[in-house]
Amino acid sequence: MGGKKEKKLWGGRFSEGSSSVTEKISSSIQYDSRLYRQDIRGSVAHARMLNRIGILNDGELAAIVKGLGEIMREIEAGSFEFKTSREDIHMNIEAVLTERIGDAGRKLHTARSRNDQVALDVRLYIRDEAGEIEELLKRLVSMIAGLAEKNAEAILPGYTHMQVAQPVRLSHHLLAYAWQLLRDMKRLAAARDAAMSLPLGSGALAGLNYPTDREFLREELGFTGIVPNSMDAVSDRDFVLDFLYFAAVLGTHLSRFCEELVLWSTSEFAYIRLADGVTTGSSIMPQKRNPDVAELIRGKSGRLLGNLVSLFTLLKGLPMTYNRDMQEDKEPLFDSVDTVKLSLEGMIEMLTGITFNAGRMKEAVYRNFSTATDLADYLARKGVPFRNSHEIVGSIVRHCEQTGADFFSMDAKALREFSPVFEDDIADVLNPEKSTERKLSPGGTSRAEVMKQIEAIRKLV
Ligand code: ARG
Repeated sequence: MGGKKEKKLWGGRFSEGSSSVTEKISSSIQYDSRLYRQDIRGSVAHARMLNRIGILNDGELAAIVKGLGEIMREIEAGSFEFKTSREDIHMNIEAVLTERIGDAGRKLHTARSRNDQVALDVRLYIRDEAGEIEELLKRLVSMIAGLAEKNAEAILPGYTHMQVAQPVRLSHHLLAYAWQLLRDMKRLAAARDAAMSLPLGSGALAGLNYPTDREFLREELGFTGIVPNSMDAVSDRDFVLDFLYFAAVLGTHLSRFCEELVLWSTSEFAYIRLADGVTTGSSIMPQKRNPDVAELIRGKSGRLLGNLVSLFTLLKGLPMTYNRDMQEDKEPLFDSVDTVKLSLEGMIEMLTGITFNAGRMKEAVYRNFSTATDLADYLARKGVPFRNSHEIVGSIVRHCEQTGADFFSMDAKALREFSPVFEDDIADVLNPEKSTERKLSPGGTSRAEVMKQIEAIRKLV
């Protein structure tokens, strides 16, 4: 209490109020106000349940539901006053409700603790956000499938060790990213599943001195199950870890994708051009067009991993059950939600305006012996043991390097210097554009296999 200070909702046993540093450390309202919708949804369901078990009469229930509805509208309109001294979203809402409707508001917290309340809010929040993030992921994956279809004929070097390896279709390369993102969608769904059990009705930790109807709450709030142990219910944050893990892996994927966009937009590669809207200039070098959006998405993946590590570190030493440390789960979670959404929006925008320079890619594929493996396979098909054919083609490559001969236009006569097995059908084998169609294996870079992938991906999103 103390002085002009408002009495805390938990203030009964205290004769002095919190110090201002304590209030500052305790307060989470600066960030957890964003849980207002989930908090109100939970409180309405809880009030209905209390009405069913005879703790609230119909008039009290109606006053609570109406009061919470008004508070929701005010928060949305920006006219609700949040107070640091009221610590968190739960107490800010309850205090104002009580100011307005009196005793009915004071009854709302019967058979509930902030411990099961916050566990509920965060689960609802993750469920809500997962829906939005899934939509963004689907859009991004569909866009990649669209680009793959539109650019089915473009080929470029595939790389290993960042060295030219074999020709691949641009569409095949792009679809590799789509598959990563599809796995991310599975991880997201797993995180959402982990949040699908109802913690409310557990009380502070031990259960409640009331015959709470948890099945009613489950139904009302759209959960698929009920957390079976009240102590686990208030101390579990695995579903947040699961979400942060999803976000960290997604971040890693986007970062790799962006690294490639950065590389491909250099004048040395020039495989792509990013639209003006997603590039920025330099304050000193007038010619610059920097791929900042790609760089920042790459950079932001660091926070996504950091947030996961933060929460692991926060949780690992905690005894049963709720510990106040757990309030610190929210900022990493909120930051990862925001970062994931913004990064996905940035990816969508970059891919919307991207143009591919198929000419540059083709030039690159005609350098660096990209079809040397095809040539070795040609010999192998004609009966030369692969290890020998590898050796033979290696010496052809060495010869070209030493003499400056053009590998891609060597004729059968020149090649017979290295092996008598070469015949006149060799020109097609050296041709990088024909190389992709020779990939017979399922999942390879041939047109037919790429089209199968596009179809499969479209079905999944
Ligand atoms: N703001 C708190 C949190 O986020 C709510 C739960 C507080 N519980 C308590 N016993 N102090 O964790």
